[in-house]
Amino acid sequence: MKAYLIGIDLGTSGTKTVLFDSDGTVLAEATEEYPLYQPQNGWAEQDPDDWARAGIQTVRRVMEKSGVSPGDVAGVGISGQMHGLVMLDADGKVLRKSIIWCDQRTAKECEEITRRVGREKLIGITANPALTGFTASKILWVRANEPEVYARCRHILLPKDYLRYRLTGEFATEVSDASGMQLLDVPARRWSGEVLKALEIDPALLGRVYESPEVTGYVTADAAAATGLAEGTPVVGGAGDNAAAAVGTGVVTDGSAFATIGTSGVVYAHSDKIAIDPLGRVHTFCCAVPGAWHIMGVMQAAGLSVQWFRNNLAPDMSYAELDRLAEKVPVGADRLIYLPYLMGERTPHLDADCRGVFFGLSARHGRAEMVRAVMEGVSYSMRDGLEILKGMGTDISRIYACGGGAKSAFWRQMLADVFGVAARTVECTEGPALGVAVLAAVGAGIYPTVPEACRAMIHDRDELKPDAEKHDRYNEFYRVYTGLYPRLKDSFKELAEL
Ligand code: XUL
Repeated sequence: MKAYLIGIDLGTSGTKTVLFDSDGTVLAEATEEYPLYQPQNGWAEQDPDDWARAGIQTVRRVMEKSGVSPGDVAGVGISGQMHGLVMLDADGKVLRKSIIWCDQRTAKECEEITRRVGREKLIGITANPALTGFTASKILWVRANEPEVYARCRHILLPKDYLRYRLTGEFATEVSDASGMQLLDVPARRWSGEVLKALEIDPALLGRVYESPEVTGYVTADAAAATGLAEGTPVVGGAGDNAAAAVGTGVVTDGSAFATIGTSGVVYAHSDKIAIDPLGRVHTFCCAVPGAWHIMGVMQAAGLSVQWFRNNLAPDMSYAELDRLAEKVPVGADRLIYLPYLMGERTPHLDADCRGVFFGLSARHGRAEMVRAVMEGVSYSMRDGLEILKGMGTDISRIYACGGGAKSAFWRQMLADVFGVAARTVECTEGPALGVAVLAAVGAGIYPTVPEACRAMIHDRDELKPDAEKHDRYNEFYRVYTGLYPRLKDSFKELAEL
């Protein structure tokens, strides 16, 4: 019997569903977009019922397009944006719009969490300092500001887990996404009784926590009618978007890592042992491989920096033309250095006040030097993340380059040269959707383990080796780059206070 797998990726701009065969080949895909609501500056909300509708409709569309018989779909995996807060009443109805990952309203609640739990203990248990993006502070915000909503709340779920509920009727999550709630004991991979008690959150509100490839429930008759799937199709845990992307690029064993240049930049390393940065500069989460973790640095403005440059300083040029312009300039952009802090920075500075800088600007410089400096600055910032991961004892001998920015062979080569590590790519660019389809294949018993499933379903495409001479030259500029932020830190704050 042929076996097919479905991966659903519930993103911020839309949901993408892909149907694969058990070799990882794409048979059909469908995407559905939905709005982002910003009722106040710094707030970000989405409607969970938009997510559910998009999930259900895109599954229906891939089933129709592919013509695959429902009984041949061996399993479904769900990936998604992390951290968002979904609150349901006793009847499973959505109580309010979801406050999502990029919402920044909860600074006060983060202070409260740190005060109630204690900073050191919080980092020891949840592996991260209190962050506005994470779910716990959002729960406290609703409790303080909308007590009538909180009083009616009986279930708290993450975005993709609401879709799971609509497909299976189960209230469940899995370790990788649950790690971003700030309520999980990340070393022990279960809810932290201690944190829940300190924050006075009833554990009965939370779903059951599974490992990512485990079956969490089965498609109900109603969901089968709506999606075109067979009733009883297993739905596995799935994973948060970055953990899913790791599986989708085969980053599932020690020594492997990936770097994503999307709007933001991510540097992610797999680790069989847990490692926590006591300074909280990088996130440690459970990963989708049972019993393993990942460490991840997030930079706010990676692709966004180039997008900003193009929109404001080169609106007449395409990204490919900007690449060609940058290529003509030597390493170091003729002594021009760019700090990519257009949106403040998470890794490595955890500083909301820092901002972008061109350092060393000369009358000689034009758009070519500037765009090269932007790409180099983003690459240096990602190297900052990589250096922290290495400093925590992570072995990084293989790195995959993903995301829109890494589609440029020029930027991929720059990453390899700046990092001093070969940059690889994979055949299928469906990252998170493929990752959770791989998890579904394991849950359905097609492959025994996640690494074995990856060997069968993920196929490497090419590898760009670092150029030793360029790496040495980049090191000289990287040294100057790393000296700039500490010197400017106080000035950024002063500027922010004006
Ligand atoms: C991870 C993070 C993002 C979101 C949205 O900490 O904030 O990756 O999951 O994509």
